Amino acid sequence: MKGWLVTNGFLHSNKFTELNLWLIEAAKKQGIDLLVKTNSEILAKLDSHFHKTELVNNNTKPDFVLFWDKDIKLAKYLEMKGYAVFNSSDAIATCDDKALTHLCLQSAGIKMPRTIIAPMTYGNIGYTSLEFLDQIETSFGYPIIVKECFGSFGQQVYLVYNRRELEDIVLNIGSNPMLFQEFIKSSNGKDLRLQVVGNQVVATMYRYSANGDFRANVSIGGKMKPYEPTKEQMDLAIQCVKIIGLDFAGVDILFGENGEPIVCEVNSNAHFKNIYDCTGVNVADHIMEYIIKRICIG
Ligand SMILES: Nc1ncnc2c1ncn2[C@@H]1O[C@H](COP(=O)(O)OP(=O)(O)O)[C@@H](O)[C@H]1O
Ligand SMILES: [Mg+2]
Repeated sequence: MKGWLVTNGFLHSNKFTELNLWLIEAAKKQGIDLLVKTNSEILAKLDSHFHKTELVNNNTKPDFVLFWDKDIKLAKYLEMKGYAVFNSSDAIATCDDKALTHLCLQSAGIKMPRTIIAPMTYGNIGYTSLEFLDQIETSFGYPIIVKECFGSFGQQVYLVYNRRELEDIVLNIGSNPMLFQEFIKSSNGKDLRLQVVGNQVVATMYRYSANGDFRANVSIGGKMKPYEPTKEQMDLAIQCVKIIGLDFAGVDILFGENGEPIVCEVNSNAHFKNIYDCTGVNVADHIMEYIIKRICIG
C-alpha cells in the first residue's frame, strides 16, 4: 500500500518537519510507503484538464492521501479526482475557521462558550465604525475573549479588560475574520486536549499555564499532565469529530463552572509531539492503523 503525505511547501520549521518524519515512520511500521508531496508541488502539476500528469497514472496513484495541510482547494481537487483524502476538505475547512467550527457544533447542540462572530469587512476598507462592539460589551461584560478565526498555538487569542483594549485589538486585527466570546473564568489558564482517532479517544492531556497566562497552550509556556478523561468528556470529543465529519482531531475542552465540559475548538491537524511526550501515546500509529482499516474495510 502507498500513500501521500500532503504538507505545505512553505512551512519549514522543525515543528512541522518532525511531524512528517513521525508519520512516515508510523506508515513504515505498517508496511506503507508514505511519500511526502507539498501542495506547491502537486498544484503546479495540476492543470484543470488533468492532462499527462503523474496524477492520472494508476501506477503512481496513492491508495490514500493523508492531508496534513490547510490548502482546502487542493484537498477538494484531489477528492473530486477520486482520491481518498484524510481528513476531508470539508472537515479541514470547518476546523480551520473558528467561526465555522462554532456554527457547525453549536447548531448540533454542543456546549461552547457564548460567541458573537464579527461582521465581515473588506480588506481595503476595514472597520469604518466600531458601533457593533456596544452589543458585544453588553452581551458578555469584561473581560472578553477575542479570537482571530484563523489562528493556532494560542497566538491569535486575546483577553481584553476594557473598551480601549477591545478597540485596539479589533483595529489591529483589521479585516481578518474574528469572533468574540465569553471568558470561561472557571477554566482560566487550564484546559484539556483529547486526541480522537475514528470513534476513540486515544490520549488526553491536562494543560495548565504556569506563568499566569489565561491560555493553556504548551507552545506559549503551558505545562501538561496525562489525564484520565470522564465518559462525558470523551463522548463530547467523539461527538464533535463525528459532527464535523473528521477522521481524527485534537479537541480542546474547557472546564465550566461546575466542571462540565465546554468545547473550545477542534484541530484537524493537531500536532502530536506534546501529547506523546506527556502520555507516551503515539498518535501517528493510531492514525495510520485507522486509515488502513478505512481503506481496506471502508
Ligand atoms: N472562551 C474561553 N474562555 C477561557 N479560556 C479560553 C477561551 N477560549 C480559549 N481559551 C484559552 O485559550 C487557549 C487558546 O484558544 P483556542 O481557541 O484553542 O485557540 P488556538 O487555536 O490558538 O489553540 C485555549 O487552549 C484556552 O486555554
Ligand atoms: Mg487550541
